[in-house]
Amino acid sequence: MLQKATFRAHPDIALVKYWGKKDEVLRLPINGSISLVLDALETVTTVAFDPSLTSDQVMIDGELEVGEQSRVLQHLDRIRHRALERGVLSQPCYARVVSVNNFPKSTGLSSSSSGFAALTLAANRALGLELSDRELSILARQGSGSACRCIFGGVVEWLDGDTSETSYAVPLDMPKIAKIRDIVTIVSQDRKQLSSTAGHNLAPSSPFFAARQELLPQKIVLLKQALQVGDFTAIGELAEAEALEFHSILLTSKPNALLLYPGTVAVLHAVRRLREQGVVAYCSMNTGFNAHVLTLPEHEAQVIATLTTLPEVQKVIPSGLSKGPGELQQHLF
Ligand code: DP6
Repeated sequence: MLQKATFRAHPDIALVKYWGKKDEVLRLPINGSISLVLDALETVTTVAFDPSLTSDQVMIDGELEVGEQSRVLQHLDRIRHRALERGVLSQPCYARVVSVNNFPKSTGLSSSSSGFAALTLAANRALGLELSDRELSILARQGSGSACRCIFGGVVEWLDGDTSETSYAVPLDMPKIAKIRDIVTIVSQDRKQLSSTAGHNLAPSSPFFAARQELLPQKIVLLKQALQVGDFTAIGELAEAEALEFHSILLTSKPNALLLYPGTVAVLHAVRRLREQGVVAYCSMNTGFNAHVLTLPEHEAQVIATLTTLPEVQKVIPSGLSKGPGELQQHLF
């Protein structure tokens, strides 16, 4: 039965990052990754399949998004194909999709992770597909790799897998870090110069990429141990080193990409100064200039006070861990 469905999903920040693909079409990552899904940032998406439509209609943040649109249309095709296979659709049927983000997209805050998670969840419900969490994660991954993690909340691991069926995310039960805070720090709302999708293809051209691959399995083991015991210093050190390593790959790819802005570097220095004063504060960045500052509730006020005095910082969005995506009864159209 076709119905209108609306889901809210949250983007994530990877502590060990997905960077490089072994299969570009299926979006199979070269390595596994671990992320925190953030409750303060969200994408809300309404989907309705309608036999009277003559084409898909996709609106993101009030605009017909030409760039993202084709990726969204490909994802709708993928989901339609699944619905035809399962017999829940008897013939192809176009959809109307309206999506809104409460944070600036294409600025390195992973709007595609929450966007493709919300789209997958809403389309699944709209078509009555009733896919399992694992199937949803596999499907979301094919829209945007990081979206496979945002089918869940909290701390999530993406198992790299060698086939589509074995490459999906699983939530990790990490009660000792339930209170971790991420101060999302906006230093610019420019559209970033390099999309993650394009960046993944450049990754193997860095002379340091092979060394990174060698060290990654051990990094994942160490991070999981630190998350398990709630060792915030170890988590923060690993996360910040990983973000810098990831940007080193960007800086040494051919062609190279310098995505760090003066504001990003100012935030990196500020968290170092905070650590010298005994404050738990560590920085991470994705493919972009905006930063995530990881801290603890008892240090949050001081971290925010320091960040907001930096002239380069436009806005901070304090966040905790998300409990996962959810269905909403209020639709966007
Ligand atoms: C640096 O998931 O956005 O944020 O699969 O091409 O859509 P596509 O890439 P995407 O890449 C995310 C890269 C990253 C690291 C991470 O989130 O793990």
